[in-house]
Amino acid sequence: MTSKLKGAVVGCGFFAQNHLAGWKDIQDVEIVAVCDLDIEKAKAAATKFGIAYYTDDVNALFATQTLDFVDLPTTMETHESLVGAAVEQNIPVIVQKPFAPDFEGCRRMVAAAAERNVTLMVHEDFRFQNVFRAAKKIIDSGTLGKLTFGRFSWRTAIDVYSNQPYLINVKRFMIMDVGIHLLDLARFLFGEAQGVFCRTQQIKEGITGEDAATILLTHDNGATTVLDFSYASRRHPDLFPQTLVEIEGTLGTLTIGPNQVLTVHSDGQSREEQITHDSHSWTYEPWTQIQDSVVHTQRHFVESLRHSIEPETSGRDSLLTYGLLEAAYLSASTGQQVVPERD
Ligand SMILES: NC(=O)c1ccc[n+]([C@@H]2O[C@H](COP(=O)([O-])OP(=O)(O)OC[C@H]3O[C@@H](n4cnc5c(N)ncnc54)[C@H](O)[C@@H]3O)[C@@H](O)[C@H]2O)c1
Repeated sequence: MTSKLKGAVVGCGFFAQNHLAGWKDIQDVEIVAVCDLDIEKAKAAATKFGIAYYTDDVNALFATQTLDFVDLPTTMETHESLVGAAVEQNIPVIVQKPFAPDFEGCRRMVAAAAERNVTLMVHEDFRFQNVFRAAKKIIDSGTLGKLTFGRFSWRTAIDVYSNQPYLINVKRFMIMDVGIHLLDLARFLFGEAQGVFCRTQQIKEGITGEDAATILLTHDNGATTVLDFSYASRRHPDLFPQTLVEIEGTLGTLTIGPNQVLTVHSDGQSREEQITHDSHSWTYEPWTQIQDSVVHTQRHFVESLRHSIEPETSGRDSLLTYGLLEAAYLSASTGQQVVPERD
């Protein structure tokens, strides 16, 4: 694979616009085909992004196109059949989060990909934000000592329902939609967790699932992390989509405040740096931070294919994040701490 990788994007809805724009920013990738059940959306994407082939039938896509990968920015209930179709053709896949509606579906996709040795990555973009890559470097340098405590806070009142109306009716809402990002982040920065306690709240009237949750994780290294996230927090300023972070270790503290100001206090000294995102011609506020991380996530997938290495958020790895999600829902319904399943 020395020439440009040829890819297809299946699903041309709301968030796919960021995927399509992101792929354009990656020089050694060419998106050669798009597909959506709604042919008008496929056609609009093809026109906007200069893509020669569009279809409303994924089987036609696989029958007519020679692909190095397929990108699936569709909602989770579609993932298993689409991943299955790609894997059957031995085509590497990157699939949006949440991975699947249930753990069994995730496991089946991982098993299908493993059986054919096909790369399967979950598009988990928070950990690829510049600010979290910077935090990870500092943690790995030992500046903070042994980690003891973390807090990841994501609270907003943005009208998520106008862009993603399906969220009004989902039973498992907030942990699936946002909590999963924070669970992955907690794993990325603190390692695996062996205990999960969770409380959920439904604050907005007329929705089906929870729109706020607080999770407490006990990590294998002894650290405790608290993840709190809400779509019903009327704050000023509203910091969507920023994650505020506090990390304590035996030698120091790292905080990520509003506008990605990262502060490290260690050895009696404090230093502060604003971590910026890369600039792209197509990004816009307040989504810039997320949009930039889409490109980093895509680059990581491409690097994984080029170098034949397992992506950080491979399907297999994502089972660990999904195990924490399942444990959180079980804890919320039983009021008990839950030990997450790890495979
Ligand atoms: N990572 C993030 O920061 C982030 C942000 C927003 C949304 N998302 C995720 O992105 C995913 C998509 O969300 P969305 O709001 O863009 O959804 P959407 O409903 O706007 O778009 C999905 C599209 O997929 C198409 N589709 C479904 N099944 C198909 C099939 N079999 N073949 C071809 N096309 C098919 C639909 O017609 C639709 O146009 C969700 O899982 C959501 O959680 C992630």
